[in-house]
Formats: sequence, structure tokens, C-alpha cells
Amino acid sequence: MKFTTPATTNPIDQLKVIGKAHDRIDGPLKVMGAAPYAYEHHAEAPHPAYGYVVGSSIAKGRIVSIHLNEARRSPGVIHIVTADNAGKLDKGNFNTAPLLAGPEVQHYHQAVALVIAETFEQARAAAQLVRVNYAEAKGSFDLAAEKNNAIKPKTGEPDTKVGDFAGAYDMAPVKLDATYTTPDQSHAMMEPHASTASWNGDKLTIWTSNQMIDWGRGDMAKTLRIPKENVRLISPYIGGGFGGKLFLRAEAMLAAIGARQTKRTVKVALTRPMIFNNTTHRPATIQRIRIGATRDGKITAIGHESWSGNLPEGSTEDAVLQTRLLYAGPNRMTTTRLALLDLPEGNAMRAPGEAPGMMALEIAMDEMAEKLNMDPVRFRIINETKVDPEKPDRAYSQRRLIDCLRKGAEQFNWNARNPQPGQNRDGRWLVGMGVAAGFRNNLVMTSAARVRLNSTGIITVETDMTDIGTGSYTIIAQTAAETMGVPIESVIVKLGDSSFPASAGSGGQWGANSSTAGVYATCMKLRQAIAQKLGLDSAKAEFTNGMVRADGRSLPLQLAASSGDLVVEDKIEFGNLDKKYQQSTFAAHFVEVGVDIATGEVRVRRMLAVCAAGRILNPKAARSQVIGAMTMGVGGALMEELVVDKRAGFFVNHDLAGYEVPVHADIPHQECIFIDETDPISSPMKAKGVGELGLCGVSAAVANAIYNATGVRVREYPITLDKLL
Ligand code: MOS
Repeated sequence: MKFTTPATTNPIDQLKVIGKAHDRIDGPLKVMGAAPYAYEHHAEAPHPAYGYVVGSSIAKGRIVSIHLNEARRSPGVIHIVTADNAGKLDKGNFNTAPLLAGPEVQHYHQAVALVIAETFEQARAAAQLVRVNYAEAKGSFDLAAEKNNAIKPKTGEPDTKVGDFAGAYDMAPVKLDATYTTPDQSHAMMEPHASTASWNGDKLTIWTSNQMIDWGRGDMAKTLRIPKENVRLISPYIGGGFGGKLFLRAEAMLAAIGARQTKRTVKVALTRPMIFNNTTHRPATIQRIRIGATRDGKITAIGHESWSGNLPEGSTEDAVLQTRLLYAGPNRMTTTRLALLDLPEGNAMRAPGEAPGMMALEIAMDEMAEKLNMDPVRFRIINETKVDPEKPDRAYSQRRLIDCLRKGAEQFNWNARNPQPGQNRDGRWLVGMGVAAGFRNNLVMTSAARVRLNSTGIITVETDMTDIGTGSYTIIAQTAAETMGVPIESVIVKLGDSSFPASAGSGGQWGANSSTAGVYATCMKLRQAIAQKLGLDSAKAEFTNGMVRADGRSLPLQLAASSGDLVVEDKIEFGNLDKKYQQSTFAAHFVEVGVDIATGEVRVRRMLAVCAAGRILNPKAARSQVIGAMTMGVGGALMEELVVDKRAGFFVNHDLAGYEVPVHADIPHQECIFIDETDPISSPMKAKGVGELGLCGVSAAVANAIYNATGVRVREYPITLDKLL
């Protein structure tokens, strides 16, 4: 199905199953520990050997020699993979640095060897005996120091300009020129990167933990220089990804090479301390924001420049994306620049671009509101735009930011906030409230599925879509049930296997809308096939309660499969609607904090998110996404920071003791409200993404609340207590 005109009334609009707060159908398996993760496919992959990755102990330079004899003699060792024996490998489509170093080393903990032994402990012990001689080269590790040498990146859109920013900014009666920094951040997902690889002749099966099955399959094939058809990638359950598992990573590739060379099944999990430097992270940013406005608060000039670091072939963290779109203003400029650093590869982490961009922009908006002596909710409302301010011929498909702000202000009792900072005491706590807008683009991706009807009326959906903890199984089952007019219990959903049709995958908050749209399209094709089989007019056929009705006849669905399963495949392809219309998702975030008057300790006391993100397919799953994202936003505001050792070039705090994320005790009651909205431009589902939206703006709302509580404006995340005293 090609989606080229706005969606009209369709079976999804019945809202018998869709739009309902259905429990996660994979929930019981998960809480019973019965959902197999990548390292746990014991039945399908018995008697494995275990691989342990050895990471480079230098950040930049060359391997002069590797000495393996001692490790080889260690008990249980079967084989050691290094660049010397791995064969010729191509670089994948998405990796900036090769996944196996040698002789060149591009970053700290880049894999230099995989030690394979009979047990994990034997592999780990032997890995300590691998001796590598390096010729170390001088690297660059300091973003601030390299900022002035930053280059125009080859990726993204480095510069945008509308009108005369410099002139308008100069003339503006009220202006702000401030610089904000966000640190390197780690995905820190629960399930470490893990893979189990097994060959049958020249065919590879790999059980892994990956958000994008088709990308991973293609990359594995390209890297190993084998046909894509020879790779089967399976990832039915994933313990979180946040972008860290969008791409093939070293443990998967090394497991595949190790298994091929040893003719054994090989399992490799990255240890937690390896993940932080071996895999990817969100790059730190330095962001300069200038805003000029009239005295009555109309923005006349807005400029946002962002610097981030990466390896030479890497991309930028596009922290200016939202500034191109969020607020009106005739004179505008944005730039992104890349500082060449020899730190581990920077790449996508939840809402790449907007997440750190909103951390800066939404403090700047708070600062401007204060300069204007204007309520920050009102300042945002009066700078509303209905079109893309850089390309005014592109209207927003839906834009309910003002509704989010007003609804949130009312619900949060925003009027009780004292605009004078540092005035509100509750015992030893200084209490403050903050607001920020939330914004994240809505992306759409081609997504295919296969749907089968059997003679007992069971509908089975197969697609390589992933469920990274988001609820994909459930919303896909809801979609099929709604479209086919059957109860959700009659639907079986199978995901995460490259032998199924290629889906949108889980990334960029496009997964829910795109993958369900693909399932909808395929179910519509199945409806046609059923009507045809039963001799009914498919244009008139109605599907309800397991029956198909047309022409005065009413027949059970499964009759169409009485002589064999009815199977169809289709996909949703998105035409040019997403080019004609600007599609984004909006939110308003409200936060109340208490700051300890003596110690500077910050406690979040209340949080509210109001989201406008198209049709909400399952309010329970969507709420879980948003409150999880709000929690991540608190981490971004108060805790998360990969600390760079600027001499040796690595992230020092590479475990979950040193890289702090919020725990339950850090998070108060969270409230999440969805604005009742459908977006017929986004897909036949009329839905959008919420998972990344829920993060964008939260950290700034926390920062603004801290300012309101204390009068201390911190522009360098995370806002640790030392910055408040
Ligand atoms: Mo997201 S950073 O595309 O998983």
C-alpha cells in the first residue's frame, strides 16, 4: 500500500481494540524470566563456546604485535580471533570505526581480539593473558579545546539561514547570548550487547540484541563479505536499546567470525565495563544560542550554533534541529560543526539532535522570558508558528503545542509559581517550578508484514519489527485485531526474525506508527483475499466479531482458510506527504523541584508531561514510554555524564556505579496526559511516535525549576550540587 493521500475513515477508526489500554502480551513472559534474550537461546543453540572481547588499552595508534601464546595455553581456550586471522572484513554501512582494530587503533576499547574458550570464565581468564604492544599516537579528546578547529560536517544539513539574523539580532531591544553544554552520555540499557552465532555450511544464524533487524543483517553480510540471504538475524526480545543497538556491533561480528573459524556455536556478551568505550555514545555538545525579541516578546532573531565531536568519518549531534522548526521569527540561522576527536564513536541515542538541543534551547527560552519579564508559558505561546519557519510553504500536519502548554499549566497549578526565584521555602528545601516545550520530529519508514489466517480463525502476523521494551507485540496485535474484526486473543504476533518481511524497525520513534501501518496495509490485503475466496464483494465487506458480512450474507472468517492457510504479504510505503507537510510531535513538560538549602541536593517533587502525538494506539504502553523518557530526562538534567580522561582518551566512569542514572527513589509521582488528536497525514493509523518526544525538553524543565527555586542558572549539564553552591 502506498500512502500518498491523507488517511480517511478506515477500520482502525472503529477503536474497538486500538486506542485501548491493553496489557503487554509479552508481559507475563518477561516477568517470569521466560522471554529469551540474546544470550539465552539455550535450546536453539546448545553447547556453545564463549567469547570474551579484548579491548584496546590505547585510544589512538597502531598495534605493533600481539602475543597470544600464553593465552592459547590457558585452560579451555579454543581459538583467538584477531585482525591477523579474521580474513578481509569490510566496514559496515553504519560503523564509523571498524569493529575489529588492527593494525590501526581508532579508539579506546576498540576490539583487538576475541578469546574463545569452553566456558565464559576460561575465556575471561585467558583474555587477561593476551599481550598487545602498541605504538601510541597523540590523540585529541577535548571538545572545548578542538572547537575552534571544527569542520563543516559531511552529514546532515550544516547551515541554515533565513532573512538577516545578524542585523535583526543587533537591532533587537531585548536579547540573550548564552552558551550551554551537554556531556557525552551513554545509553546504559539493561541488557548488554550480546550475540550467539552458529553456522550451518555457509549460512549464519545469529541471535542478537538489535533494534533494526534488516540493517543488522545487511551490515553483517557486508562486513563478512557474504550474501545477505546467508544471514539470519534473530532478536525477539530486547532489554532496551535507546539507539545503542541500532547498528551491528563488535560482539555480533566477532561471534560470527569466531563461530565460523571454530565450527562451534559462539556466544559473546560485552561486559558492562566494555560497553561504554567499545560501543557508541551520545556526543557532548557546546551550543551557543542567541535570541532577539521585541519588548512585547516577539522573537525577531534566533540563532543556534552547535559543536560536537566525533571520529573523522562520524556525524554531528544535530542539536539545532528543533530550533529550525519550533518557534516563529523572521531572521534565523543554525550551524552544526564537527570537532575531530579520537574518543569512541559518537552515534544516535534516544532523540538524537532534539534531546540535547532542547536541553539548551528551552533554558534559553526561560532566560529570555525572564529578561522580558514575561511568563515563560506565555512567551512560548506568542511565538507560535503554524508553518515550518524556514520553509513557510510547509504547514504542520498537526501542531497542538499551545494546547499542551495551556492544559499543563492548568493541571500543574502553574499560576502558583512565584516568578521571583529563590523565594519559596518548604522547611530546608527551596522549591521551584519549571516549564519547557517538548518537540521531536515524526519520521516514517517503509514497513512490511506477512499475515496468515488459518482454519481455526487464528491470525498470525510475522514481521521483523523489534520490541525493545516498547510494546510492539501488543500494538501490532491490536492493529491486526481491529483491522480483521477479531478479538486480540485470536492474534499471534511473531517479531524480530530476518526470515520475516522487513519492517521499519525500532528507531527514531518511527517504529510504532510505521510498523502498525505496515500490518494494517497487509491486513487490508488479507481482507480482500478473504472476500474473494468467499465470493463476497470486498469493497462492501465488513469484518466484525470474527465474521465477514456482505451482500446480506454473513460468514465466519476461517471459512476462507478451510482448504489451507490464507497468507498475504504487503508493506506500507510512504509517498511524499511527509515532504509536503512538516510532521512533528509536541509536548509541554512541567517540573517542581526542591533544592536543599545547605547541601544543594536536588529532589524532583512533581512531573507532568502533556503530549500531542497523533492517535495513541495503546495509552498504557504510550504512558510507559513517556514516563520512562521523563525519568531519562531527570538523569540528563542531574546525573548522566561520561567523564572524559583528556590525556588518555577514554570515558572514565565506565560502569553503572560511576555512570549514574535515576533509580525509583529519585523519581516522584509522574503524570502524563495525551491530547486527543489524530494525524491523517502521518499514516493510515493516524498515529505518531511518543517515545523520544517524552525525553525532549524534560531536562530543561528541571533546570528551569532549579533556577526558579534557587536563582542559580546552570548552563552546563548535568546540574550537580557543586554547581549550585
Ligand atoms: Mo533511537 S536513537 O533512533 O533508538
